[in-house]
Amino acid sequence: MTQPLSFAILGCGTIAPTHAKALLSLSDRACLSAVCDVIPDRAEKLASEFGGRVRTWNEILTDPGIEAVAICTPSGLHAAHASEALRAGKHVLVEKPFDVTAAACEPALEAARESGKILSVISQHRFDRASRMFRGLMDEGALGRVFGVDVHIPWFRTQEYYDSGDWRGTWEMDGGGCLMNQGIHTVDLMLWLAGPVKRVWARTLTAAHQRIAVEDHLCATVEFASGAIGNLSASTATYPGFPVRLEFAGTEGTAIMEGDEIHTVAIRGRETVRGRAHDHACQVAAGGTLGATEASTGEALGNQWVWGDAHRAQLEDFIGACRENRPPAVDGISGRAAVALIGAVYRSARLGEAVDL
Ligand SMILES: NC(=O)c1ccc[n+]([C@@H]2O[C@H](COP(=O)([O-])OP(=O)(O)OC[C@H]3O[C@@H](n4cnc5c(N)ncnc54)[C@H](O)[C@@H]3O)[C@@H](O)[C@H]2O)c1
Repeated sequence: MTQPLSFAILGCGTIAPTHAKALLSLSDRACLSAVCDVIPDRAEKLASEFGGRVRTWNEILTDPGIEAVAICTPSGLHAAHASEALRAGKHVLVEKPFDVTAAACEPALEAARESGKILSVISQHRFDRASRMFRGLMDEGALGRVFGVDVHIPWFRTQEYYDSGDWRGTWEMDGGGCLMNQGIHTVDLMLWLAGPVKRVWARTLTAAHQRIAVEDHLCATVEFASGAIGNLSASTATYPGFPVRLEFAGTEGTAIMEGDEIHTVAIRGRETVRGRAHDHACQVAAGGTLGATEASTGEALGNQWVWGDAHRAQLEDFIGACRENRPPAVDGISGRAAVALIGAVYRSARLGEAVDL
């Protein structure tokens, strides 16, 4: 039997326990061997809850027994940490965003190419059942020619959230505001489902928070390489926060996702689905294209897809990629594409003109 893949977690703050829990739940395939943080108490706390030894970054890099590293440090450190780990012969799963600019991602992409190790960027919402079902619809061409793509991210974060870490709300370490930190999940879904973007025109505001250098409210018009057009809006100032919404309008029908679940899928000649992403809805909307694996995953979870399950699903994919030496579902190139699009949105807002990608 294959030994469990031995992991280290670098950065033991807010998101690290989600990785640690996912690893525990995959204990037949993975184990948490080491944890590391510049604030030793945080590493001690994570180790006491989830196991693993507290070690220095250098010890982790030089220990051949550690095969993979989950990078959970502030965003502006991601690519540097990823490059070091890849060059030390580790597989790397790096939290979103890949880094704070597309250029900053390059050394890690190069390190992955040269080392032959697996590099994956977290975009856990690709693993939500509604997202996978929408991807099935797009692959099938069920909506016909998609001409409208509207993405709305009306979230809210308190002032205390921005004050909780000195890297939050900075260009250097957060890379931007509501779009780079929070909205990137949905930007990645948009690119994954609707394809590359060729031009953006954007406006941004710092509307409702103090002591941040970045935007907390943003809107943009987006032109896709496919010819589709759409609106992209994001916020962390929209009190008290509302679910994310993605709408795809095509010549054969419309598909709307809200809060990671199906809102409506209406396709000519098929039963219209309204409601949550339970298996029947998925099966009907996808015209039966949803596989048995997805249905049994739903049953195993009692149809309760809770916070953390999507991270677990991505970790499972990553472990499989490392063991089978195949590309992961979310690779470094698509991680960089989301960062590049967001960079173009910021450039457009700064220049006050449309920007081509
Ligand atoms: N996928 C998601 O849904 C999700 C959710 C939250 C955060 N994140 C991402 O995870 C990353 C971390 O966010 P967070 O909210 O956990 O931040 P955080 O500030 O709570 O945690 C970051 C940790 O990294 C440590 N650290 C900083 N520099 C380090 C270094 N050089 N070596 C080792 N440790 C170091 C800090 O001491 C801190 O404990 C961010 O990039 C964020 O975008 C992703």
